[in-house]
Amino acid sequence: MFDLTQRSLGRAADLWLLDESAVDGLSAALSVETLLSPEELARYTRLRRAGVRRRFLGGRLLCRHALSAYADVAPAAWTFAAGRFGRPELEPNPHGLTFNLSHTEGLIACVITRGAACGVDVENVPARPEAVALADGHFARRERVALANAGDDRARADRFVDFWVLKESYTKALGVGLSRRMSTFGFDLGPPAVTVTDEERDPGERRDWQFELLRIGPRHACGVAVRRVGCDGQLLQLRTIDFVSAIGRRDPRRAPLAVTLRHADVMA
Ligand SMILES: CC(C)(COP(=O)(O)OP(=O)(O)OC[C@H]1O[C@@H](n2cnc3c(N)ncnc32)[C@H](O)[C@@H]1OP(=O)(O)O)[C@@H](O)C(=O)NCCC(=O)NCCS
Repeated sequence: MFDLTQRSLGRAADLWLLDESAVDGLSAALSVETLLSPEELARYTRLRRAGVRRRFLGGRLLCRHALSAYADVAPAAWTFAAGRFGRPELEPNPHGLTFNLSHTEGLIACVITRGAACGVDVENVPARPEAVALADGHFARRERVALANAGDDRARADRFVDFWVLKESYTKALGVGLSRRMSTFGFDLGPPAVTVTDEERDPGERRDWQFELLRIGPRHACGVAVRRVGCDGQLLQLRTIDFVSAIGRRDPRRAPLAVTLRHADVMA
């Protein structure tokens, strides 16, 4: 258990970040058995590869502790249920919190809102050439055109990740994940706004969505999608929180996570 100052969410969406390199040290300070549910522990025990185990544990550690920053509930006491496509939600949820988790080599992220549907995806940059080749089958026409116009191979590999993290954050906020055909909706990076055109959803719904595209340090891209229902179209403030700093354990010799906002959504 780590001490976190209690926070209020109000009209914000909080993005919690955890360096994978900090997970071993943090997990040495707590007993995995006392943090994870029996189901999580069973899943953790089945994982074989060190990195996959570390990121799984880091994800549970991050989201359980981060959720406890908004309610007087111990990290180990949160209980979850998975939706039809496997999206975990709090169950029961008396505090009305919504969250989503993502992990990739080097970074774990968790977005939390007060009830707004939300999704997050983190990926390494630049994308590998074999990943960029996936654009042909998984990107909408508008996205393929933007990629073709991106410039050189490096710019294309960066742009591919920009689209990918937004696309995945959106499908994760919808709860359907990669069961959704990724070419049936397309992003426009603006400026001034990151917007989605989705032929399977009511066009009026576009106004509800807010997307953020971030770079975290030199190696990671992050997409966040939030559906702002009942907010009268007002933007939610996206706040980023470095978990290791928030619990007062950042090694002063290591630089804090550098977060750069690439494109903020300003839906008209
Ligand atoms: C969710 C999904 C997009 C994750 O892709 P990924 O890039 O490998 O993983 P990420 O690190 O970004 O996210 C993983 C986290 O997303 C969450 N998640 C799982 N399913 C989810 C869903 N349908 N929607 C939103 N989030 C989901 C979990 O917290 C998961 O963490 P965990 O693996 O530690 O439990 C992908 O696994 C998927 O599409 N799953 C659903 C596919 C499906 O049809 N499932 C049916 C069987 S249940």
